[in-house]
Amino acid sequence: MKLSQASWWLAACMGTLINASGILEVDLVFPRNESYAPIDSFPVVFAFQNAELARYLNPRLTYDLWSWDNSNNTFPSWEELRWVNWTDYDTYFAHSYFSKFNKEGRWRVRWTLSWDSCDQDILESGHSLRDGIIHNSTTWSTDFTIKNSAPKVDLIAATSNKTCPGEYGVAINVTDKTMKIPFGVSWSGGKYTNDTCAVLAFSPTPTPNPCRVHINKTTVESMEASLHARLCNSLNPPDDCPEEGKNAAQQLAVTGIFLFLSTVGAIGFLFKL
Ligand SMILES: *[C@@H]1O[C@H](CO)[C@@H](O)[C@H](O)[C@H]1NC(C)=O
Ligand SMILES: *[C@@H]1O[C@H](CO)[C@@H](O)[C@H](O)[C@H]1NC(C)=O
Ligand SMILES: *[C@@H]1O[C@H](CO)[C@@H](O)[C@H](O)[C@H]1NC(C)=O
Ligand SMILES: *[C@@H]1O[C@H](CO)[C@@H](O)[C@H](O)[C@H]1NC(C)=O
Ligand SMILES: *[C@@H]1O[C@H](CO)[C@@H](O)[C@H](O)[C@H]1NC(C)=O
Ligand SMILES: *[C@@H]1O[C@H](CO)[C@@H](O)[C@H](O)[C@H]1NC(C)=O
Ligand SMILES: *[C@@H]1O[C@H](CO)[C@@H](O)[C@H](O)[C@H]1NC(C)=O
Ligand SMILES: *[C@@H]1O[C@H](CO)[C@@H](O)[C@H](O)[C@H]1NC(C)=O
Repeated sequence: MKLSQASWWLAACMGTLINASGILEVDLVFPRNESYAPIDSFPVVFAFQNAELARYLNPRLTYDLWSWDNSNNTFPSWEELRWVNWTDYDTYFAHSYFSKFNKEGRWRVRWTLSWDSCDQDILESGHSLRDGIIHNSTTWSTDFTIKNSAPKVDLIAATSNKTCPGEYGVAINVTDKTMKIPFGVSWSGGKYTNDTCAVLAFSPTPTPNPCRVHINKTTVESMEASLHARLCNSLNPPDDCPEEGKNAAQQLAVTGIFLFLSTVGAIGFLFKL
């Protein structure tokens, strides 16, 4: 319908405006509902836009890759977020590579984002009947196909300027207000947030805009470098690894990872499966 399309475009155009307020957005950046050529190391990439707003929300990201062709083939996975320095990034990329996508098949990514926020009323009233933390989560899924005739995986092209439906993203309206969790309240997020939670805004759920995320060459190179370092550290290292002994190679890999971690907001160097 014309009208809804127009309002979708309006929402898309207002992206930068929305960005200016306290909206944390978590997107599945790759894969999308598309077809890709088989590849040895298939990336799964999530982006946290306005990453600093995630700091007090104790976000958790779990997902699985489920095969349409053989439902026994399910690869559960997750991203390690607890040690992320959220304030270091505008957009934080969490990514992993998977080795099971070197032949044709149809797949589904099912991902669940969980987050916690302050229950302001409970915390202010001082009643300890409940823990004062609101737990929330949401689950999305995207299908993709591995096909010999499909284009190669290209993270830069995939995120260049296409339109992309909101189903790839979750937007959370975070206020400036934070609260201290009282002593004695057990909240798993406490030790990663200095016992501080954030208050969420009462507002209609904002419209996500995953198209705002663009992966550039620098980011791709750092992701590939961390993958390479990881592979060189594995039992079957590729031929182009540094010549040094195993310990030296490990040392280098670790240094490399930290180097790239600190220069670009790309992490998720675990080579899974
Ligand atoms: C899935 O696993 C079950 C039990 O291990 C087996 O009987 C079945 O044949 C498997 N299905 C496929 C498609 O491999
Ligand atoms: C976060 O950054 C600070 C300063 O850059 C650093 O001292 C600290 O170790 C970092 N924390 C983690 C968990 O990496
Ligand atoms: C959980 O988040 C959704 C989407 O942001 C929101 O609609 C819902 O009200 C939240 N639930 C709670 C208990 O806060
Ligand atoms: C993927 O896209 C096709 C059309 O291109 C659509 O029919 C299908 O519903 C989409 N699936 C998902 C899970 O988004
Ligand atoms: C997307 O980018 C390509 C090349 O950069 C350009 O030719 C095309 O017009 C752009 N499309 C839109 C919808 O902006
Ligand atoms: C943790 O919070 C306390 C106040 O409750 C503050 O004094 C301290 O500096 C905070 N620590 C960090 C690392 O932010
Ligand atoms: C976020 O919440 C604030 C406070 O309720 C509200 O003023 C603002 O419009 C909301 N932003 C969006 C994009 O919904
Ligand atoms: C590439 O993207 C990263 C992360 O979004 C950003 O920090 C960096 O400035 C970009 N580099 C270039 C050359 O655009």
